Amino acid sequence: MVPKLIKIEKIHIDEDYYALLLKFLSQETNLNFKYYRRKFVERRLKARMIRVNCSTAASYYYYIKDNKKEIEYFLDGFNINYSCFFRNWEIFQQFENFFLKSLKSKRKDILTKLTPDPNRIKQKSRKKPIKKIDKSEDRISFNKLMGFKSKMALSFLEETLLYKKININSNRGDSINIWSIPCASGEEPYSIAMILDNLKKQIPGFPRFKIYASDIDRDAIKKARIGIYNENAMKEVSKYNEKNYFNKVSIRSGFKYSINENLKEYIEFIEEDVTKELHTNLKYDIIFCRYLLIYINQKLRNKFLSIIDNWLNPGGLLILGKTETLYNSFKNFKLIDPSNRFYLKIE
Ligand SMILES: C[S@@+](CC[C@H](N)C(=O)[O-])C[C@H]1O[C@@H](n2cnc3c(N)ncnc32)[C@H](O)[C@@H]1O
Repeated sequence: MVPKLIKIEKIHIDEDYYALLLKFLSQETNLNFKYYRRKFVERRLKARMIRVNCSTAASYYYYIKDNKKEIEYFLDGFNINYSCFFRNWEIFQQFENFFLKSLKSKRKDILTKLTPDPNRIKQKSRKKPIKKIDKSEDRISFNKLMGFKSKMALSFLEETLLYKKININSNRGDSINIWSIPCASGEEPYSIAMILDNLKKQIPGFPRFKIYASDIDRDAIKKARIGIYNENAMKEVSKYNEKNYFNKVSIRSGFKYSINENLKEYIEFIEEDVTKELHTNLKYDIIFCRYLLIYINQKLRNKFLSIIDNWLNPGGLLILGKTETLYNSFKNFKLIDPSNRFYLKIE
């Protein structure tokens, strides 16, 4: 007989055992749980408590201590590794746009017409996302940024000035450094690599670039390095990218897709807690930081955002998740694309 599950509202998490649980889990996993939002941790605890039929934090504490496998189950949901290639496709399209326009503003020899990735054609047929402007944020006034007085719509000149401000400098000689944090099992950094590799093939003298990709989850990093994915991760991948960057292998239940070895060469995967350890003293030109801020509490968020501030070059781009914001904490970051959460570091 299937045991009756306890109802979530019957679950009680008292402070003493909550603290003990977090202490125990921190020791076992090296994750600093006290930095995650309380609601988020509690939700995960309650979900597991229902599964193993514990109605109090005390009973769950003794259960997890006696059943080490339970730590893995708890973490499975906690790490939320969900990702897919080109997650929120319009962000990647906009990234390509910004990158290209910034490059063109410095290199007059680049042709206006490049062979478009059919992703773009696919995207044209989609509904345009509704622009949500977060009033709590200081949305950039291009006029203010560029020192213009009038409040006219963005003119060609203003646009050019904006793209010039983005620090994608092909003449600098060293490579453009991109950081993808957290990268989960690699879908995001591989998507960035596909976009840039596609441009590189068409633009002579395309700048060198290197993508660093960090995540705290050892298994996710292992999977990223191996680079084999199932169909779920592929739903936003165009036929063009599939053909150019994947090998499709037939398996009993469908297909697996393995990333081409040459794409892997652009990326260095690093297992690290991005709020603590930093693998390098490199500075970055572009940072993708999507879907981490939503899980962590304000204290850690501020600490973490200072890390980003320190490691991003002036003129660098910061790209957050669709639902994330800088909470007005950093005045030197200007929101230049509200619907896609692109920030420009201006000093
Ligand atoms: C939802 S995924 C985000 C993946 C990707 N950026 C995307 O948008 O598809 C969240 C990831 O954050 C990672 N994570 C959570 N805390 C972290 C930390 N302190 N340092 C590094 N990675 C962390 C988790 O392991 C998980 O893989």
